[in-house]
Amino acid sequence: LYIGVDLGTSAVKLLLMDEKGGIKKIVSKEYELHFPHPGWSEQKPEDWYSQSMEGIKELISECDKSQVAGISFGGQMHGLVVLDEDDDVIRPAILWNDGRTQKETDYLNNKIGKDKLSEYTANIAFAGFTAPKILWMRENEPDNFNKIKKIMLPKDYLAYKLSGTFCTDYSDASGMLLLDVKNKCWSKQMMEICGVSEEQLPKLFESYEVVGTLKEDIAEELGLSKEVKIIAGAGDNAAAAVGTGTVGDGMCNISLGTSGTIFISSKTFGVDSNNALHSFDHADGYYHLMGCMLSAASCNKWWMDEILKTKEYSKEQEGITKLGENHVFYLPYLMGERSPHNDPKARATFIGMSMDTTREEMTQAVLEGVAFGLRDSLEVARSLGIKIERTKICGGGAKSPLWKKIIANVMNLKVDVIESEEGPGYGGAMLAAVGCGEYDSVQEAADQLVKVVDTVEPDDKLVAKYEAKYQQFREIYPALKGVFQ
Ligand code: XUL
Repeated sequence: LYIGVDLGTSAVKLLLMDEKGGIKKIVSKEYELHFPHPGWSEQKPEDWYSQSMEGIKELISECDKSQVAGISFGGQMHGLVVLDEDDDVIRPAILWNDGRTQKETDYLNNKIGKDKLSEYTANIAFAGFTAPKILWMRENEPDNFNKIKKIMLPKDYLAYKLSGTFCTDYSDASGMLLLDVKNKCWSKQMMEICGVSEEQLPKLFESYEVVGTLKEDIAEELGLSKEVKIIAGAGDNAAAAVGTGTVGDGMCNISLGTSGTIFISSKTFGVDSNNALHSFDHADGYYHLMGCMLSAASCNKWWMDEILKTKEYSKEQEGITKLGENHVFYLPYLMGERSPHNDPKARATFIGMSMDTTREEMTQAVLEGVAFGLRDSLEVARSLGIKIERTKICGGGAKSPLWKKIIANVMNLKVDVIESEEGPGYGGAMLAAVGCGEYDSVQEAADQLVKVVDTVEPDDKLVAKYEAKYQQFREIYPALKGVFQ
């Protein structure tokens, strides 16, 4: 048995998988997300750990514990976790969707320069990446900065607590802006720019490599053998890609979670000359390009929970029938936007309502706005000559048949639906299985375990209608950019 831990932004989801890839059980444990200032986003690493431990206990409560062989992870990326000399957390983790580092991001992109950053890391700086946060800490919390002994990413904190190994993997490390993605080593120039040393950074592993075994006291607390292997795991998008079989060359996955991402796997290293897509290592040992929206399913969650005050998500979508004909548009930038605008100050907006606008049209606009935002990143990929005709899909938003239909038609892609939309958790369990020798490679695990059960085909008439709507959508952000300052 293998445990996949999906350390997300709203909850940790734990998944128990058998040797044949069957999902035996899923447990979810929530924790708080703090917004101490508008645009800031923090969580307590201690909450991740305590909820993960509770979750693992519940997950394995009914199984034969001696059969558990390995644990691995898909973790929210980019979060800055800092520990002092006693291994205590120095301050709350600054998350991937935190927008406080505009000044540091501008410094990196404009003073150090995008060309240099791209040469050192294959990427430019985005607010939310880890390096600008380190610079922010150095400037704004010098006492905390001076206490730093270890810098790690969210899932690495769990691996460290469970195994005692200070480690990360290449896919997740790619999002720190400290890794030389092409050559798979820490960038000396970036360490110098950020004022950190290699001793403060974790040891690098491939996602499917074993980093250690359970610490004795943890094994005892969980009732597991201390032989249980801990496998490095991946950033949640790379783990989700593994979980949907998006490995090797030219495959695509869309994740509709708190964030929205479009992930394109590649066996060869490449950089987006437009600087909009991230160029990162993949969990299969190769590379990928990725566009990331900071608010995707979270837009719908906000609209349902905070504004419409309902938990009946699917009921709200039942009345939506006029696809491609909506006069209302929605910009999905609740937390600013990463790809392609790189603008932490951007905000969400509805536009185009009239006296006869209905609740259904507003809900539809939210789903469409997220699809248009993903299309923005797809257009960047297309401009690089990348041809994509189909995609997999995962994440909470992928549960909605309507949203999948909107995405297929807005993006003009065939959307392959797989057995389970549990991307990062399933991918994490698959990486654990590869690490324990159940499969020879990530590719082999994907070939054997991931099954497409349905395909949502785009419809020519709807694609044409949405093409016109997308061209209108594209006008909105440039027109409003000045308002968001
Ligand atoms: C990717 C990103 C998000 C988080 C969400 O670059 O920031 O997708 O990983 O957990």
